Amino acid sequence: MSQRRPLIAGNWKMNCLRTDGLALARGLSDRAKAKGDLACDILVCPPATLISDVAGVTNGGAVMVGGQDCHVAVSGAHTGDIAAPMLADIGASHVLVGHSERRADHCESSTVIRQKTMAAHDAGLIAVVCVGETEQERDLGATLAVVNGQIAVSVPDDATPENTVIAYEPVWAIGTGRTASVDEVAEVHAAIRAELTARFDDGDKFRILYGGSVKPSNAAELLAVPDVDGALVGGASLKVDDFWQIIESCA
Ligand code: G3P
Repeated sequence: MSQRRPLIAGNWKMNCLRTDGLALARGLSDRAKAKGDLACDILVCPPATLISDVAGVTNGGAVMVGGQDCHVAVSGAHTGDIAAPMLADIGASHVLVGHSERRADHCESSTVIRQKTMAAHDAGLIAVVCVGETEQERDLGATLAVVNGQIAVSVPDDATPENTVIAYEPVWAIGTGRTASVDEVAEVHAAIRAELTARFDDGDKFRILYGGSVKPSNAAELLAVPDVDGALVGGASLKVDDFWQIIESCA
């Protein structure tokens, strides 16, 4: 485990109606309260419909709440979008930006993601900037070039270890059950760290999360990799027991 305090984040994606989402939030919140001293920070990113209710349940406790995306603008004619100040207004402290599903489904470029990250910072939110290569890019040997290119453009100059977290999520490992090997994760995280330290004086203080089929059975070995400062968890964050086991892997 690194010297940086780990962050275990759950991305609920487009899952959970109100009853299930609130039960999940309550379950996590209760366990966090019962445990008291935690070895990591905990974040859940529910769908936008549930952020306010989940924030009400977690109530400023150990389980923090984040959005899954924000617009670059603070308000205006953008039907269906959510502005960063709106997320902050309903209790979010974080927001994911540049998730590969947004990059692919909504054609989001790294330039737009940089603007979203800055919008998040302006609203007082911590941005979790996601990067990662596709399977084709990995097969072509382009992983480090792709990831470093995404970091270079997506992470704005105003980023600090306090307002920005990086999440490395190889696209081919998301929701597939295929996890990147410890060596693959170590190589990419080291490259991201090098990119951050070359650019920022305190580049060694940024947290870099790994995401992609993280589950209770592989969390401990992934979290033990140098420069892995936590996890961004999809499917396994939807069950209290599984997510909690991943949180406990930080101990
Ligand atoms: O953002 C989390 C993510 O994309 C990983 O999803 O289901 O592979 O853990 P999953």
